[in-house]
Amino acid sequence: MTQKIAVLPGDGIGPEIVEQAVRVLTALDLPLELAEAPVGGAAFDAQEHPLPPSTLSLAQSSHAVLFGAVGDWKYDQLPREFRPEQAILGLRKAMGLFANLRPAILYPELANASSLKPEIVAGLDIMIIRELTGDIYFGTPRGVRNAPDGSFAGEREGYDTMRYAESEVRRIARVGFETAMKRSRKLCSVDKANVLETSQFWRDIVIEVGKEFPQVELSHMYVDNAAMQLVKAPRQFDVIVTGNIFGDILSDEAAMLTGSIGMLPSASLNDSGQGLYEPSHGSAPDIAGKGVANPLATILSAAMLLRYSLNLPAQADRIEAAVKAVLAEGLRTADIHEPGTTRVGTTQMGDAVLNALSRS
Ligand code: IPM
Ligand code: MG
Repeated sequence: MTQKIAVLPGDGIGPEIVEQAVRVLTALDLPLELAEAPVGGAAFDAQEHPLPPSTLSLAQSSHAVLFGAVGDWKYDQLPREFRPEQAILGLRKAMGLFANLRPAILYPELANASSLKPEIVAGLDIMIIRELTGDIYFGTPRGVRNAPDGSFAGEREGYDTMRYAESEVRRIARVGFETAMKRSRKLCSVDKANVLETSQFWRDIVIEVGKEFPQVELSHMYVDNAAMQLVKAPRQFDVIVTGNIFGDILSDEAAMLTGSIGMLPSASLNDSGQGLYEPSHGSAPDIAGKGVANPLATILSAAMLLRYSLNLPAQADRIEAAVKAVLAEGLRTADIHEPGTTRVGTTQMGDAVLNALSRS
């Protein structure tokens, strides 16, 4: 059966890195039907909306979405609903992509890329599972109003609502435990239960779900401590599960531990196996169109797509092995280049991955 993939390149370096991932997917010679549509600022320019209805329905009717990146300074002055970021938030919400998997892996060849000492980060392999459709990101009410009461009554105030329904916590906790079962059977749930009601509730529910997974060693950590521990002793973590806002922040921190965010893919999944796959990095408008961007995070996102939405783990393994092979050959894009390695551009890196694939 042919599987449909929506290809949404987006802005900045999005188109050039997605192009390389599409070459890789095409080279595997699988029964895939790839259909492209504009998203983000590119879609605003073409159709006056960052997530036009035609793009959303293409995504919704596909098995998986391969996403580049969105955003550019030139859209920062637009009203919020027209900004490129609304496209990714809209896709997450409309497709129910509640489980965000963000691996932070340090490739041995890139150990020097980290700003931390090699002995702290060597062998790092963390999976952050971030809840993606709830929390203060989507909670209502929100807005700006005249403060109704308290010591600031009469002044204007901005406000948002942090909230989690029980079913939302249960389903993401389950993803956390299931992921831990496939790895080292250790799960750390991150919250702010010492201050926030939402977090205490989160913790209580995670403990309850944990009873279904007695083989998993569950721990809890406050988010401020987790931020410290990630830079102090990151290898204590294997799988982390956390809410939307804490996960947004900690996943950037974890990515930077590797020093090579240009290498890190991500997956956002719903409960019917549909997923959106995108690099963990952004649209980097400063280097867009120069042919120097690292396509490997997007190529590795295509591997995650095959693994999680298309159930083709052997094909995913092939892509991941090809990426390791090009690193071993010493090829590096500018972001991960160091003396003694060979600097290549976006297309050459894609060529090298294709080459490695053809040998596998
Ligand atoms: C991310 C990004 C998004 C988020 C932005 C672009 C809306 O930072 O995917 O982590 O905050 O979730
Ligand atoms: Mg973020």
